[in-house]
Amino acid sequence: MTQRRPLIAGNWKMHGTLAEARALAGDLAARMRGDASEPFDMVLVPPFTAIMAVAQTVEGAGIALGGQDCHAAEKGAHTGDVAAAMLADLGCHYVIVGHSERRTDHQETDAQVKAKAEAALAAGLTVILCIGETEAERDAGQTLDVVARQLAGSLPEGAAADRVVIAYEPVWAIGTGRTPTVDDVARVHASIREEVAKALSADQAQAMRILYGGSVKAANAAELLALDNVDGALVGGASLKADDFWAIARACP
Ligand code: PGA
Repeated sequence: MTQRRPLIAGNWKMHGTLAEARALAGDLAARMRGDASEPFDMVLVPPFTAIMAVAQTVEGAGIALGGQDCHAAEKGAHTGDVAAAMLADLGCHYVIVGHSERRTDHQETDAQVKAKAEAALAAGLTVILCIGETEAERDAGQTLDVVARQLAGSLPEGAAADRVVIAYEPVWAIGTGRTPTVDDVARVHASIREEVAKALSADQAQAMRILYGGSVKAANAAELLALDNVDGALVGGASLKADDFWAIARACP
């Protein structure tokens, strides 16, 4: 069976002055440098304004960088947006697309998310593609259908396990302190892997990393990361404190 190396991603969202970003990134870089045997990959996803400063701070520490979104177009008249190639130019290796906050705040559809993911692949980035059900959908027993539909609608053309990471993030668990049971997470992740197998191939599905996100904390990370089909975490709130984020990363089996 393919060995999937866990990915621990810190999504800073709209947090961090340059000074705060440098302090947090510097703290994590020092820990990474002091720990040659860490069994995980780490990516920091600061706001666009802090990416350059974080890149300089973590240089040589084995920490990757990502953007929180990108535009579907290569360039052009899109005030306020950022192109995937600009992120690559800054040294980013990853970009998050389809985060539920983008889907809600900016009414992004699966088709738009797919177009963004394709732009990211074209720019040489690895996509972290977010999917997840709302609380109402969960209560209606639609979770597996919703994630299957989102995946089918937003998985980019040319998707492959070495360039696409899926993040299952139940909307109701993001920033709320609530998480699904480990059984629920296991069930949804297994189902996502089956959907990836249908869309791509069994081998690709076996190799693709599927992260869990939504109120991951030091206290629950170990049980989530121990699940067979959970290949890392996308962490929001708890990624803003070096101690907490490091404890989550160290909880990787
Ligand atoms: P949270 O956010 O860890 O604060 O719940 C996760 C995310 O939105 O990626």
